Amino acid sequence: MKDIKGTTNVCCLIGNPVAHSISPLIHNTLAQLRGDDLVYVPFKVEENRVEEAVKGAYALNVLGMNVTVPHKQHVLQALVETDSIAQAIGAVNTLVRTTKDGISGYKGYNTDILGLERELEDVGVSLKDKEIVLLGAGGAARAIAFLCVQKGASQVVILNRTISKANSIAVAVNQYFNQSIVKAMDIKDYDKMALNDYIAIQTTSVGLHPNNDDVIICDDQFYKNAAAGVDIIYNPSTTKFMKLMHKHGKPAYNGLKMLLYQGIAAYELWLNCTITKEMADKVYDVMEKNCFAAFRNEDK
Ligand code: ATR
Repeated sequence: MKDIKGTTNVCCLIGNPVAHSISPLIHNTLAQLRGDDLVYVPFKVEENRVEEAVKGAYALNVLGMNVTVPHKQHVLQALVETDSIAQAIGAVNTLVRTTKDGISGYKGYNTDILGLERELEDVGVSLKDKEIVLLGAGGAARAIAFLCVQKGASQVVILNRTISKANSIAVAVNQYFNQSIVKAMDIKDYDKMALNDYIAIQTTSVGLHPNNDDVIICDDQFYKNAAAGVDIIYNPSTTKFMKLMHKHGKPAYNGLKMLLYQGIAAYELWLNCTITKEMADKVYDVMEKNCFAAFRNEDK
């Protein structure tokens, strides 16, 4: 058991539910590997009590916080400062203690996009000058669309069942960067995109355990035309979307590294440190063992 002392720093997660979160595993493993005097705990917080929770955490000297569903947008109101791209995305998942204009509280960041950025770097996929197809237009897609343009994508097409949601992301991103790189399309029209060698990023919940055989687009041609695929789902570890990419000889990655690196980016902000690739790999091994053992048990 961890040796908790009077000096031990506390970091936490707020969300609802939090019971199945992998974040405690990521952060407590990091603290253990680095020998940091830090413990990370999950707190279930009701939707109408987010502000109270953030103020209370500050008063309790909580060093850093993660915020998960359903509080990522609503928590913005409880912050004294928000990182500029996180503000434009309209969602934060990491809070760092700060004082702005004499007011103390937390500053919000979005490390979800840093997570995907580092996953892509890790697997050698660059977004620069690439055409990107984003499948889905929920909160994750919104953050990823910002990342794609920030990283120099030449074009981003958002395919969604509800086109108005894809449109609203396209407008927000194009406005923020003052460019017209992002376009929205009805997912039914995917075969009219006229793109080739694109990176397809799957952000919908289609294919998530236990619906492992579901996939958002089943047409082989969509996968033949792609250069690589990323699915933000990590349970199952190989989704149907990834299998279809593999079938056509295209590399495809799941979302476990994105999850790892969003945690690492948060930890680095809290402790003002740099986590090495070797250490990240060690945490990834622990995550794989724990998560996939748990998933396998669920499948039985
Ligand atoms: P998150 O915030 O985690 O990204 P979300 O907001 O629930 O999740 O978004 C889920 C995405 O998956 C949406 O783009 C949703 O499409 P709609 O905007 O049309 O609802 C998409 N999605 C979920 N189930 C789907 C299905 N069966 N077919 C097509 N799209 C689906």
